[in-house]
Amino acid sequence: MKIGTKSVLFGAHQFLLHPWFVAFAWWKLYGFPFDPRLWVSFFVHDLGYIGKPNMDGPEGDMHPYWGACLMGTLFGRKWYLFTLYHSRFLSKNNNLNFSKLCVADKLALVYTPGWLYLPLVRFTGEIDEYRKLGDDGKYESMNSNQESSEMWWASVQSYLRDWVDEHKDMKEDNWTPVDSTIIKLEKENATLKSLVSDLLNDIELCSNKLNIIQPFLTTIKKYAIIINKYDLFH
Ligand SMILES: [Fe+2]
Ligand SMILES: [Fe+2]
Repeated sequence: MKIGTKSVLFGAHQFLLHPWFVAFAWWKLYGFPFDPRLWVSFFVHDLGYIGKPNMDGPEGDMHPYWGACLMGTLFGRKWYLFTLYHSRFLSKNNNLNFSKLCVADKLALVYTPGWLYLPLVRFTGEIDEYRKLGDDGKYESMNSNQESSEMWWASVQSYLRDWVDEHKDMKEDNWTPVDSTIIKLEKENATLKSLVSDLLNDIELCSNKLNIIQPFLTTIKKYAIIINKYDLFH
């Protein structure tokens, strides 16, 4: 089983666990998330890790696209960008602002206690990749403590707490470095990207990304239309 799939099933991005931390973080930051579209984004934003051979390599870095495609197909371009830019690295590399989902997503990690997080990432093996990149790579600027897993996680949480404090009002992110791996892959994905932005309201959009749920998409879309039509919470 690929590590990305393991992460969603049993690890850092556990599909029934992580979304609740994001929701709680959102509540703390911006008030209770009444808009149902927010809840959909909490639950789908990391599902793109499924099938990825790494967490923070060229493939893992692209994980926001799947959830973004789904959100865009259901609720339009604004929600596509909202979901896509929950990754501060992706937004940095695309020269666009991170979204509020990014802030809640980072604060969610601050709220995820080590006694829960560490056994999960040890079980899936993700921790090796995360710690390695904290030592030399993408997460180097976090200056994480490498003495033990517990100290490493505490230092990551401390960095993220500071990052959230600095950026919760959507101030420009000058902390996150540009990741050259992403730039390379973004170029390769240019065709997909232009397709996504140009045709976002089309149900066929992102069909290659969403083909797994294609049979259900029409039904899901019906509910999405109702939510969008009444726009109850804005
Ligand atoms: Fe993510
Ligand atoms: Fe997340």
